[in-house]
Amino acid sequence: MASTERAAGPSVAAVDFLKVTEQAAISSARWLGRGDNHAADQAAVDAMRATLGEMPITGTVVIGEGQKDEAPELYVGEVLGTGGMECEIAVDPLEGTSLVARGDSGAIAICAIGEPGGLMPAPDIYMQKLVVGATAKGRVDLEAPIAETLDVVARCYGREIRDTTAIVLDRPRHRDLIEEIRQAGARIRLIPDGDITASLSVAVRGTGDHLYVGMGGSTEGVITAAALECLGAEIQARMAPRHDEDRAKMAEFGMDDEARVYGTRDLAPSPLYVIATGVTDGHLLKGVRYFADGARTHSIVMDLVGNTVRFIDTVHLLSPTIIREIRL
Ligand code: FBP
Repeated sequence: MASTERAAGPSVAAVDFLKVTEQAAISSARWLGRGDNHAADQAAVDAMRATLGEMPITGTVVIGEGQKDEAPELYVGEVLGTGGMECEIAVDPLEGTSLVARGDSGAIAICAIGEPGGLMPAPDIYMQKLVVGATAKGRVDLEAPIAETLDVVARCYGREIRDTTAIVLDRPRHRDLIEEIRQAGARIRLIPDGDITASLSVAVRGTGDHLYVGMGGSTEGVITAAALECLGAEIQARMAPRHDEDRAKMAEFGMDDEARVYGTRDLAPSPLYVIATGVTDGHLLKGVRYFADGARTHSIVMDLVGNTVRFIDTVHLLSPTIIREIRL
């Protein structure tokens, strides 16, 4: 970012990016329960790319739909915007495509904006993750046995382990982990998809979630880290290659240390804003609701520049010909 821009602050505000995730959510939520993962995702991708394309930014995609040869839109390295504020962009236009296809809860559209060099490029492989909110930040260790971690988290919240809830992706690879958490006595929320959503829920007090743990996508891990930095929360993560192909992908990104534990700031050294909009209802955000002349969205705008976290409820009036009636 140019030094004049730094002195004055970024020229594009966090709320200006809100329409990026709102439009992605409005487009993809149309596919609720229709059994078409691809269409739901494509709708979000198209809307997000079009909206970013109209913004006064020179934004380079660092986390997107894949490498250039894999994805025609929002590919890593794609430069978006009409020109202006130099920034990096990490997106998951639809986190939880299967959730939308099934009509299930917890899907979001999310976009992180960082300074140049502010978001870590990562190969799309699995990553071991541990996420806690501000209350337990700095007190947990990815390498520790999960029973110990649960004990620490419970103490941080001034509770018994049985009064804390851990979120885990419901996958066969987590069978032992789930068993260990059950043995330790914590409550578990097994989710079908969506570990960014789960991490946000852990990072915000009042959701009833205290810990996210398990193996999910590494690109989701970078977006999660940017959001957690805005929320004062913490992620610890380690790349989890399953075979030589994954190791080759890591090597392409200059990663050779499989044992390295990445902290929040390693994954997101300099985020500016993270914006998410609910696509389907979740613990943190409501999903999109449509009505005759428009739609209503619920979003969170996390702004590290202005030091604000806004929850924004927006009524989008889409038809000028229909009589408008706004509900509380
Ligand atoms: P999509 O956004 O591609 O639908 O991914 C959903 C998700 O559940 C992520 O939240 C998670 O990191 C990853 O998939 C887990 O991968 P897998 O489904 O292979 O276990």
